Amino acid sequence: MRRRGFVFGAGTSSYQIEGAAHEDGRLPSIWDTFCAVPGKVARAENGDVACDHYHRWSDDLDLLQALGVDAYRFSIAWPRVMDEAGRPNPRGIDFYKRLLDGLAERGLRAFVTLYHWDLPQHLEDKGGWLNRETAWRFADYADLMSRELAGRVEAWATHNEPWCAAYLGYGNGHHAPGYDQLRWGTQAMHHLLLGHGLALPALRANDPAAQAGIVANVGPAYPDSDTPADHAAVDLYDAYQNRWVLDPLLKGQYPEALWRYWKGCEPLVLPGDMEAIARPIDYLGLNFYSRAVVRASGDDSFEWVHRPDVERTTMDWEVYPQGLQDILEAFQRRYPNLPPIYITENGMSSADELRDGQVDDVQRQSYIKRHFAACSRAMVNGVDVRGYFIWSLMDNFEWAFGYERRFGIVHVDFETQKRTPKRSALAYAAFLHQRALAEAVPL
Ligand code: FCB
Repeated sequence: MRRRGFVFGAGTSSYQIEGAAHEDGRLPSIWDTFCAVPGKVARAENGDVACDHYHRWSDDLDLLQALGVDAYRFSIAWPRVMDEAGRPNPRGIDFYKRLLDGLAERGLRAFVTLYHWDLPQHLEDKGGWLNRETAWRFADYADLMSRELAGRVEAWATHNEPWCAAYLGYGNGHHAPGYDQLRWGTQAMHHLLLGHGLALPALRANDPAAQAGIVANVGPAYPDSDTPADHAAVDLYDAYQNRWVLDPLLKGQYPEALWRYWKGCEPLVLPGDMEAIARPIDYLGLNFYSRAVVRASGDDSFEWVHRPDVERTTMDWEVYPQGLQDILEAFQRRYPNLPPIYITENGMSSADELRDGQVDDVQRQSYIKRHFAACSRAMVNGVDVRGYFIWSLMDNFEWAFGYERRFGIVHVDFETQKRTPKRSALAYAAFLHQRALAEAVPL
């Protein structure tokens, strides 16, 4: 297989694309349960069928190959591969073996996430990420998968976006399992991070050739005005959004600013936890979408400022490519032990329509180009970025927003399951093809 320096890819996650929710011994996950609660997901949609990728995976891999990407980032559904007693489910595991073999046959490298939010419901019934035990169950799961799939994975990620899993899932209730107390958010975060730390030794022992890391969602903040109060608000936002996850991983401690902000909602941290969480990682995956503009609010806190007249996506997220360069360079300054970075997600949702067999998603094409340019500027300035993955390979189940928010570079007709590469996919393919040509025929 040809090994290139910089990795270009596209990503998905299990619950968002697989469907086949009741097949081959898959157990319910917290997202199956959450979707069934009225009012939690737009139009009461769910991942029962999604992109039917469980059955169409081979065609989907052909699509990836046709795009010319180097790598595919996907996640494993924990409830597919282990039963309630923690025993392996061979039928579920075989699906991922077929997928990994299919990638290898097509010359594509695999970036595999273990936890992209689909916790088995039976573990949630015992407290989910509020229960310390779940961290050890996660390590068992990582141990099983890295034994079963050793040698086929280029990079393992323990978690995707612990901030979302903890805060949206347990702290404000927008995501499964739907709890909404800050106290629970901080505790869930601690156990997620602990699970990450406990899983690392197993990943390393079972699959020593693979990289082991974690993926965090990050976003820079900018002050609404130049006042000291707004600058302080930026600092607090940064602690809450970025350092809450990155400081424990890279410094072995939660930020001081958060201990003050939590005011009685602190997590219970036991001796040894922070050492486990801060075990060295081979790479850090960063998911970048937007920035925040914040200002001071009355109670020593911050509030978001919704600026009018700026470019936005259908998520209402501001398009701010410069933020990617800024945040990469800020992390480089802040963490002397910053590992190599992969941009594991970047992309946007738009109101894409299929007309005459085409989807003219010009804004996405430009979004990707501008963000990759920002990433390149950070690389020129010394940040060690090793790869860039578009979110997402195809339109899929966008969590609480259901199927309406389309993030794919490939359009999916959810009635017929027909896939149509959008203009952004064609542009990505053209770019990757040019790169391949330039490498094959050095000038
Ligand atoms: C990230 C998630 C991913 C997708 C994108 C839009 O937070 O990791 O699953 O929902 O946002």
